[in-house]
Amino acid sequence: KSSLPDVRERTLIAVKPDGVQRRLVGQIIHRFEQRGFKLVGLKMVQVSEDLLSQHYRELRAKPFYPSLHHYMTSGPVVVMVWEGPNVVQTSRKMVGHTNPTEAQAGTVRGDFSVHVSRNVVHASDSLEGAQREIQLWFQGKDLLNWECCNQGNMM
Ligand code: PPS
Repeated sequence: KSSLPDVRERTLIAVKPDGVQRRLVGQIIHRFEQRGFKLVGLKMVQVSEDLLSQHYRELRAKPFYPSLHHYMTSGPVVVMVWEGPNVVQTSRKMVGHTNPTEAQAGTVRGDFSVHVSRNVVHASDSLEGAQREIQLWFQGKDLLNWECCNQGNMM
C-alpha cells in the first residue's frame, strides 16, 4: 500500500466578475501557486444562464438568486481547476468565509471584499461538489496532467 498522499484531488475555483474587473486574477492565482497546488485547467467564460442555473442549482429558489444571477453574468469569470492533497478543504480556508464580514484577514475574501453580493471568488465546498462542478465547466480534454521535474517538494 502506498503512503503517498492522494495528489489527484481537484477543486473548482472561479474568479467572479468583480474579481476580474478589479484585476485580481493574478493575485488569486499566485496564492494557489504559492501554496503549492497545481493548475490543471484554466479559462475565461461569459457564463450562460443555463450553466449558471446548473452550477447554483441548489440556490435557484433563494431570494437572492436573481441578484446572484445578475452579478455572475455581469462580465466574464475566470474558472480554474486546481489539484493537490486536500485541495477542496484547503481552498475553502484560503478563500475564506462566504460572507466577507466574517472572513479572516489573509483569506481572499478577507483581504479583497466587504459584501456577500461581491465576494470575488467561488470555491467548491466538497469533493462531490468539486467533481460535479468540474464536469459542468470543463471537458476532460481541457484538464491537463503534467509533472514537475527536479523539484522534490512539488507534485
Ligand atoms: S445559503 O443560503 O446558505 O445556501 O447560501 P450561502 O451558502 O451563504 O451562499 C451560497 C452562494 O450564494 C452566494 N450568495 C449571494 N450572492 C449574491 N448576493 C447575495 N445576497 C448572496 N448571498 C449568498 C454566495 O456567495 C455563495 O456563492 P459561492 O459562489 O458558492 O461562493
